[in-house]
Amino acid sequence: MYGSIRIEPNLHSKPLPNLDENLGFGKLFTNHMFMMDYEEGQGWHDPRIIPYGPISHDPAAMVFHYGQAVFEGMKAFRTENDEVVLFRPDQNAKRLNRSSERLSIPQMDEEFVVRAIQELVRVDAAWVPKKKGSSLYIRPFIIATEAILGVRPSMKYSFIIIMSPVDAYYDEGLQPINILVESYYARSVQGGTGNAKVAGNYAASLKAQTLAKEHNCAQVLWLDAIEKKYLEEVGSMNVFFKINGEVVTPSLSGSILEGITRGSIIHLLKEWGISVSERKISIDDIVQAHADGTLEEAFGTGTAAVVSPIGSLLWNGTPMVVNHGEIGQLVERLYTTITGIQCGKLPDTFDWLLKV
Ligand code: COI
Repeated sequence: MYGSIRIEPNLHSKPLPNLDENLGFGKLFTNHMFMMDYEEGQGWHDPRIIPYGPISHDPAAMVFHYGQAVFEGMKAFRTENDEVVLFRPDQNAKRLNRSSERLSIPQMDEEFVVRAIQELVRVDAAWVPKKKGSSLYIRPFIIATEAILGVRPSMKYSFIIIMSPVDAYYDEGLQPINILVESYYARSVQGGTGNAKVAGNYAASLKAQTLAKEHNCAQVLWLDAIEKKYLEEVGSMNVFFKINGEVVTPSLSGSILEGITRGSIIHLLKEWGISVSERKISIDDIVQAHADGTLEEAFGTGTAAVVSPIGSLLWNGTPMVVNHGEIGQLVERLYTTITGIQCGKLPDTFDWLLKV
């Protein structure tokens, strides 16, 4: 499928940075990237691993005007035995196709996508950090490259994969973050693109996020766009609450991204016999649970964020502090388990890892 992957070594490779130092998130990039093109009539072709560097496109390329772009986020880990593994890459390949379908981007063979990721990670395997909490973040994305200003699906695309050694997504690390519950702006509506990983969703979230920062909040928790009542997601994470012993998370309404970490967390909770339900949760439910003392924990889940405790929710100008602003027991257990599986400390019981 699509021919074999050509590898062009980087003759001007950057020296490997000290991966034990603070890496931040998405600031450093490895020496190679994967690229493959699509043209109507020719299909996806010319898969290649080439030196990492700038790409050049016609200023009329459709991605610059109409935002026809989708992406994925996934990670490679270095295990205790020095093996490099990917976490559930098949799920990312599937979701990439779902997102592409929503934006009229041609589908790709999912097994090939996983193979391309494996090959690229193999080439830059030295960049997979070992330090606790670190990983190699992998960012596959597709952009519309046809140079034409008419509004219709592009007839040309590039599929690119870049990689970045990273630490925790939030500056707070595993410390609880403050979240602002957004009452004015909306992220998505039914029938929109909220359940697809499209670039525009993130552009549209920036204004509210900037305002949230002014309130000392790391992120925004979105409410449904119609009633401004039901919790959706944070944008960089799905959300979970432990209320009176039960774990709840908003059901996939059509405007929420189906997180791979979200699915893994639900799976783990069920395995542990902890009651977990996916349902509509209103902000009033949370206010009530906070008032009567049954809001035990709140946390977000995502590839970049892993499992991040929420220390307080700012709603209508009043902060609702969760678990005294401290890391809860359940969050800690989930974090330790998921990162334990990823770095080979715990057995991969559910077959979530793929060796590179
Ligand atoms: C991820 O968790 O991988 C994401 O894509 C979220 C964010 C960094 C945009």
